[in-house]
Amino acid sequence: MKKIASILLLALSFITIQAQEVCIIPQPSKLVSSKGNFNITNKTQIVLAGSGLEKSSAFLNDFLEKFYGFKLKVVSKGDFKNNIVLNYYKMEYPIAGAYNMHVNKDGVMIEGDNATGTFYGIQSLIQLLPAEKTSSLAVPFVDIEDKPRFAYRGMMLDVGRHFFPASYIKKYIDFIAMHKLNTFQWHLTEDQGWRIEIKKYPKLTSVGAYRNGTIVGRFPGKSNDGIREGGFYTQAEIKELVKYAADRFVTIIPEIEMPGHASAAIAAYPQLSCFPDSSTKHSSKTPWSGPTNGKYVQQTWGVFEDVFAPTDYTFNFIQDVLDEVMQLFPSKYIHIGGDECPKTAWKKSEFCQQLIKDKNLKDEHGLQSYFIQRVEKYLNGKGRQIIGWDEILEGGLAPNAAVMSWRGEKGGIEAAKQKHKVIMTPTTYVYFDYSQTKHEDSVTIGGYLTLKMVYDYEPIPKQLSKEDEKYVLGAQANLWTEYIANSSKLEYMLFPRLTALSEVLWSSKENKNWNNFEKKLATQFKRYDFWNWNYSKVILDPTTKIIEDQNELSTVKK
Ligand code: ACM
Repeated sequence: MKKIASILLLALSFITIQAQEVCIIPQPSKLVSSKGNFNITNKTQIVLAGSGLEKSSAFLNDFLEKFYGFKLKVVSKGDFKNNIVLNYYKMEYPIAGAYNMHVNKDGVMIEGDNATGTFYGIQSLIQLLPAEKTSSLAVPFVDIEDKPRFAYRGMMLDVGRHFFPASYIKKYIDFIAMHKLNTFQWHLTEDQGWRIEIKKYPKLTSVGAYRNGTIVGRFPGKSNDGIREGGFYTQAEIKELVKYAADRFVTIIPEIEMPGHASAAIAAYPQLSCFPDSSTKHSSKTPWSGPTNGKYVQQTWGVFEDVFAPTDYTFNFIQDVLDEVMQLFPSKYIHIGGDECPKTAWKKSEFCQQLIKDKNLKDEHGLQSYFIQRVEKYLNGKGRQIIGWDEILEGGLAPNAAVMSWRGEKGGIEAAKQKHKVIMTPTTYVYFDYSQTKHEDSVTIGGYLTLKMVYDYEPIPKQLSKEDEKYVLGAQANLWTEYIANSSKLEYMLFPRLTALSEVLWSSKENKNWNNFEKKLATQFKRYDFWNWNYSKVILDPTTKIIEDQNELSTVKK
């Protein structure tokens, strides 16, 4: 009896050892691992047992080729034994992406509720592969049932402050897809650069995509580098990226900022300003490069007073721009910004003051609301919906608008109570431009956001009733790039925080566990190394103190 017990114990400990080796992030709903491996070699085939699963097999094959140096034959009819079988299994889960996976001596079987689910099964399979180059890939035996918690799982990138080429945007989309996120908000226009080719307004990119220099060091800057910075995405590149993302079940939501953060557009077309003949202003503390007489793309960070004038010229311009944007991006939502629009110019402008009277608006906030509602009406008429930062609540929310709550959770709570769709992106939990440690060794915008703070984030605010919490579609982390000028820094700021975010958005509350997550990080770091992704190792630094006291957080205004 004793002997049996000790054999059982030994068997159990094997299972535990195996279970520890299986490390999937985000944590699946159910995961049971057992002793044994199935080996994938170049003789293994991918069997497409259902139709429409080519994107998943293509992703897997590209991945295998890139990291292990071989591809698998893809067949539509074949032996289910000793192969990787991709198929469907109807679960009717309300959010796209549920799947089951079984790995045993007979091979790998991945069954998605739909094609999205099968794709996510492939992402989990990738995490079962060794994080080193070998020719026979031992995949541990597992049984997985998995499904996403939130319908909207987003990551944003600001390419206005610093431009990243289209080839790198592909890598960024892969980061998103490999964490089972499904939305990429592409912040395409800013004071410091307009990044999207618009055929009808060529100066937006010939003028607006470049600046004569950038401040050096933290705002207001020690000096100015005097280097022409910039770039933009051609419409051909954008079409390719939209397809690249769709092949990975990622929707790109383009963001065209209005009425603020518009200096680059105004530099290209000064008539968009309330004061076309006034020169671009910048703080006297900030060093400037090149001429100052006239309108220029901004060279420093912050919020600027020169914003779009609410004239017919501007509305026609915006409609023309959005027409081209809608041709490029099939997303249901178009992000129209709406944040940080100072009202100084509108207060000074006779035209704006008259418009406030004519339209019977309360004040400049009413004018902002009028601006956004007019654009919303245009987009709704074309079958699209708008999303805006939470400032769009001020002066009255546009009737069908979705709100991105960034200045804390308040805007999101208010919008959900008003029965508007909400995406939570509060600075205190998901602003990845904030420092990851008190001893950050590179310049950041400031703030403080540890890995654990991201991990512990709960996107559904407690203040919402059961009925109203349905309006919270999910959450998104934002990566603003004032102090991120290259891909290595970008990845350093992104990882491992994006990995923590993936469990916030995908895993059920019951399945989220910081201690398990922390253990899994060792394997995840090996993967980052193998996949050639840069990351912050601050969590491994024993001198790093995780400060969870919210009072210690500094709030940062951009
Ligand atoms: C924002 O961070 N200004 C939305």
